[in-house]
Amino acid sequence: MGNLKDLTALSLSDNLLTGPIPSSLGKLTMLKRLILGRCQLSGSIPTKEMGNFTSLQEFDVSDNNLYGNLPNEICNGRSLETFIVFNNHFQGPIPTSLRNCTSLTRARLEGNQLTGHISQAFGVYPNLIYIDASNNNLYGELSPNWGKFTDLIMLGLSSNKITGSIPPEIGQLTRLSVLEISSNSLVGEIPKELEMLSSLFSLNLSGNHLSHIAPSQLGRLSNLETLDLSSNRLSGLVPQQIGSLSRLSFLKLSHSNFGGSIPSNQPSNLQFLDLSHNFLTGEIPPQLGSLQWLEELNISHNKLCGSIPSSVASKEILVSLDLSYNQLEGPLPNGIAIERASPEAFQNNRGLCGDSKGLHPCDSFSAGHGPTRKIVIMVVVMVFVIGLVGILCLPRHTEKFTKREADETSSGEVVVISVLNHNGSDLYSAIIRATEDFGSKYCIGEGGYGKVYKAELLTGQVLAIKKLYSFEEGDAAAAAQEAFRNEIQMLTEIRHRNIVRLHGFCFHMLHKFLIYEFIERGSLARFLRNNEGAVELDWVKRVKVIKGVAHALSYMHHDCIPPIVHRDISTNNILINWNFEACVSDFGTARVLKPDSSNWTTLAGTYGCIAPELAYTRRVTEKCDIFSFGVVALEVMIGRHPNKLICSLSTSRGRNMLLKDVLDQRLPPPEDDVANEVILTMIFAMACVQDQPQFRPTMWRVLEELSSCMHPFSVSLNTLTLSQLMSLRSLGLDSAHGGKINGLLEELMNNTDVTCIGDQNEPKPELSGCQHKGNKQLKTRYCPSRCK
Ligand SMILES: *[C@@H]1O[C@H](CO)[C@@H](O)[C@H](O)[C@H]1NC(C)=O
Ligand SMILES: *[C@@H]1O[C@H](CO)[C@@H](O)[C@H](O)[C@H]1NC(C)=O
Ligand SMILES: *[C@@H]1O[C@H](CO)[C@@H](O)[C@H](O)[C@H]1NC(C)=O
Ligand SMILES: *[C@@H]1O[C@H](CO)[C@@H](O)[C@H](O)[C@H]1NC(C)=O
Repeated sequence: MGNLKDLTALSLSDNLLTGPIPSSLGKLTMLKRLILGRCQLSGSIPTKEMGNFTSLQEFDVSDNNLYGNLPNEICNGRSLETFIVFNNHFQGPIPTSLRNCTSLTRARLEGNQLTGHISQAFGVYPNLIYIDASNNNLYGELSPNWGKFTDLIMLGLSSNKITGSIPPEIGQLTRLSVLEISSNSLVGEIPKELEMLSSLFSLNLSGNHLSHIAPSQLGRLSNLETLDLSSNRLSGLVPQQIGSLSRLSFLKLSHSNFGGSIPSNQPSNLQFLDLSHNFLTGEIPPQLGSLQWLEELNISHNKLCGSIPSSVASKEILVSLDLSYNQLEGPLPNGIAIERASPEAFQNNRGLCGDSKGLHPCDSFSAGHGPTRKIVIMVVVMVFVIGLVGILCLPRHTEKFTKREADETSSGEVVVISVLNHNGSDLYSAIIRATEDFGSKYCIGEGGYGKVYKAELLTGQVLAIKKLYSFEEGDAAAAAQEAFRNEIQMLTEIRHRNIVRLHGFCFHMLHKFLIYEFIERGSLARFLRNNEGAVELDWVKRVKVIKGVAHALSYMHHDCIPPIVHRDISTNNILINWNFEACVSDFGTARVLKPDSSNWTTLAGTYGCIAPELAYTRRVTEKCDIFSFGVVALEVMIGRHPNKLICSLSTSRGRNMLLKDVLDQRLPPPEDDVANEVILTMIFAMACVQDQPQFRPTMWRVLEELSSCMHPFSVSLNTLTLSQLMSLRSLGLDSAHGGKINGLLEELMNNTDVTCIGDQNEPKPELSGCQHKGNKQLKTRYCPSRCK
């Protein structure tokens, strides 16, 4: 390659190339673009040879395993604009030629071990838009010069060894959207000049030694959505002005020295509030319960007193609550948020009482009652809880599994529970007869735990029989048994139009199987796999299928107590009925999120559909299903597994793809109203596959959005890019933009400045994990589009 003397651009990124970068590439002196990112290159950069580029503009070796020094002369040609080396193991100083490299617009150095004085290593770059040097070993104080990069949109210097205070000049960066200087050793105050950062979208100064917030109008940061000042030494009152930040959805002020009471005036769009580990006193303001979108509330480790407001207790979308280590008193109020919370959420308080969550019973029941009384209470409570589950999960059906029969056959092992008008052992024999003892010609599918057979009974009834593999013994057998029991438990509690109905089950020495209603058209995966199916499943049907899945999941997450997480949503487990309605099936791995059990588990689910956090934390929450939902929704829209698409969203090329080009090409492009629904579905599908679970919307929200706003958009789907969809999502669809997605879309199309971090063409912090280490999350928010 070194002989291709006239080559001006060489891009080999996103491949599986290994080994070192050959030094002969240094002979390509005409190169303007050298792009070797996201491969598996190792070794050190041939620094000597790389000094001869005279017109290099773009240099990208990110996401490899490169080590050693960076080439000092890289900007000798004085035309370098883009310098991207993040996520490698580079050591040593920042290249000296970079200091005078005034052409620089974009520098990404994060995730290396670079050393040097933060202010001496960098010069002044009039054109710089984006710089991230987080996760390195840079030291020294920030110079006032950082205030001179007037075009800067992103400044990331987190996790270094920066000392001194924040220069007030930073306030001059009026285009700045993201400011992250967390995990350093900054001291002093947060200067009041920061209030000038009117474009700021995300501010993270956590993990420093900052001691106070200058009295200011923080409230002027009207675009702020994420504010993390946690783990500092901030004292005084929680600034009242935060309450007026109407776009703020993420607020973390934990692990500091704040005192006084919790301001009752909180940002109206707050989704996440963490004030834990402070010295807050007074009562919990009931107004917290009226924050419409609050999903997570952590005010543990304070000195709060009084009782728990019922407005908080009954907050439907509050999925995470922690009130531990306070001085709260009184009976635990009833409410879905309380029931969902774990017992740890209430421990170490002065006088909380109640009949659950491991608390002492309240006065009327307490002192002096013997064990018999306790048992009676427990039974009453259990009956109540069981009744509640029944009421909440079976709202429209009073019928129960009443016709329970235990039948003995010659083997003495058959137990069939039936809700059909069948006698248990008759049904058993009928199924054996109808499938010719599970003959292969009746097999219609196969999954991890067994095969599925179609059984047409003599009565005309058609059933799907899921027969579990009979493992000999050991773990596999135990897992299969466990899955079997889970499935029964789940399905007997669930009745929903979009969830496959269980008619009965059978335990037999020879066979263990589940009896389902037969869903005519088979799995969603089957439709998408073959071309005829794909054409039959037109855009209207596809949107309907996705809504059906959203209905099913929303029901399981929000209407069942405790919430039920499916854990294995994939196109194989979604069946299509005669009316092209989605029916979610296969609850083999689902499990009830019991409040008193930890939700840690072994990895279940279908590869490629599981949420990234499951791969390392194994913590099961509803957010995992939401990720899988996003994957399924994307798959339905693009007609193939979206893994590649999700990964490509982190590259600018991927983001610049047109929506019309990623949609399933086997169908003609959607038009008119359907196009609107497709756009809306894509926006939310992409929101659901974010790496950071806390930024995924709840199923309830997804459902509401998908089934509300039906204004016709006046934009053409043909010119919409994925990055515009992502901006739209992160902007939220809120009142600031007229509350209408179409208005927002129009603005985007007219190319006005409505993107989440400033410049439309500016690639955003990486969205998707895929193979990237230490990636940044893009903060997004979900504002309601109140079209109803
Ligand atoms: C780079 O330039 C130096 C001096 O200008 C020269 O000695 C060296 O051979 C060149 N390297 C390559 C790989 O062309
Ligand atoms: C940068 O420019 C200044 C003056 O413009 C010069 O004194 C200095 O030597 C240059 N530094 C580098 C590393 O080229
Ligand atoms: C702020 O930075 C810290 C450490 O660098 C990180 O752990 C935290 O997640 C960041 N906060 C937000 C909201 O991104
Ligand atoms: C609440 O915050 C504390 C400490 O800040 C943390 O230990 C705890 O895990 C958090 N609770 C939840 C439910 O996240």
